Parts: sequence; structure tokens; C-alpha cells
Amino acid sequence: MQLEIVKDYDALSKKAAYILASQIILKPKSVLGLATGSTPIGTYNELIHMYKNGIINFSGITTFNLDEYYGLNVNDKQSYHYFMEQHLFNNIDIKKENIHIPNGKANNMDVECQQYENSIKEAGGIDLQLLGIGQNGHIGFNEPNEKFEALTHLVNLDTDTIEANARFFDSIDKVPTQAISMGIKTIMQSNKILLLASGENKAEAVYKMIKGNITPELPASVLQLHSDVVVIVDEAAATLL
Ligand code: F6R
Repeated sequence: MQLEIVKDYDALSKKAAYILASQIILKPKSVLGLATGSTPIGTYNELIHMYKNGIINFSGITTFNLDEYYGLNVNDKQSYHYFMEQHLFNNIDIKKENIHIPNGKANNMDVECQQYENSIKEAGGIDLQLLGIGQNGHIGFNEPNEKFEALTHLVNLDTDTIEANARFFDSIDKVPTQAISMGIKTIMQSNKILLLASGENKAEAVYKMIKGNITPELPASVLQLHSDVVVIVDEAAATLL
């Protein structure tokens, strides 16, 4: 793991965007794995800025998002489909057919999960996967004690995660209790991984991910086994390191 500690969220967003931009410039047909949540918003803003300034373009890029809430329509304002459109896709030149996000409303979840895995394979695998980290150490929506061998699957969200994500909903009982998520194995199959963490509330998870035992109890700890991981944290998230 390559650890970079930067001053604050702005510096983290810039550094992350530069790594993604470099991937795009070096391989214009890259397959990117993308994340939602608060953490990557600054990174996406930087990428949009670079796109608008003619530094990068997304015309050959294919994307696969990590996860989607189970049961939400694509145009639901809380869905990750909607999030990605607002924060990135509507502002760049990516081709609609190259965007992949799990369908939380699929009739048959097993088929949806299998098809998602097949699409990643057909695209040639993920070149660079962007990740955030949950306060409980989750990556994607792989909650503590998920199997490291899991591929894309339907997950039950932890109470911690539901509470943390309630800020995006009108009330906590509106937060879906399940999601469809790439599994740990899907994530580990990516060629490169870029994990971002900002804020003191992530400090404990960051510490355990880097210094702790490799255990399903702290899903992100599995990244110690991957050969090409860059972790960018701001000073607040690095307080326990
Ligand atoms: C998002 C995802 C999650 C988040 C994590 C951190 O697609 O899979 O693992 O990265 O919950 O969320 P934020 O960035 O909101 O703190």
C-alpha cells in the first residue's frame, strides 16, 4: 500500500483527480470503477474542471459503479444512478452505453449480479477502482464479516451504515436496508485501487485498514493483500496513524 497524507479535503480531491486523469490520458479506453458518497464529490469536480479545460476527455472511458440501493428507481434522487448523473456523468462526454451501475430494481437479483460480473469481464476488467471507506471499514457495501470471496451480490446494510447515510434521506426509515454491491473479490480483481478517506470520523477505520490484522471484520484490511493500492487520506483521517 502506498500511503499519501495530504493537508485537507481539497488537496485530497486534487491528488485523486490527478491519478484518475493520468490513467485516462495514458489509456483513453480505460475501465474505471467508481464510488459514490461524500468523499469522491471533490474528485469528480476536479475531473469535470479538467474535462472543461480540455485536459482529459471521457469519450473512450467505460465505468462500473460499486453499488446501488436495492429497490430505488434510477431517477430517485437518493439513488446512486441519480448521484452519478448529477456529480459527474451529466458534466462530461462519457457515452451513456459505457456507464454501468447495478440495477437496484432488477426482477431477479441473482441474474443482475451475474450479468454485472459478466459485463466487467467483457470490458476487460477494471483498470482503476476508486473507493471510499465506511466508518466500520466497509468498501463498496461489503459490511464487516462479508466473505472475501464474494462477487457482486445483494447485501444487508449495517445499522452503522444506515445511520451514516441517513443524512441523504428525509428520515432514517427511508434509507434502504439492502443494496447490490460489487463483492470484495470483484474489487480485488481490479488492476489498481485508489482509496480516499477524509475526516476524523474515518481515522479509526483508516488505522485498522493499514495497521490492523487482515480480517473480514474490517473489510478494507483486505487491501493489504493487493499489489497496487494508493491510499490518500487527509490529516484528520490520519490522526491515529
Ligand atoms: C459508495 C460506497 C461506500 C462509501 C463509504 C464512504 O459507493 O461504496 O463504500 O465509499 O460509505 O462514504 P462517504 O464518502 O459518504 O463517507
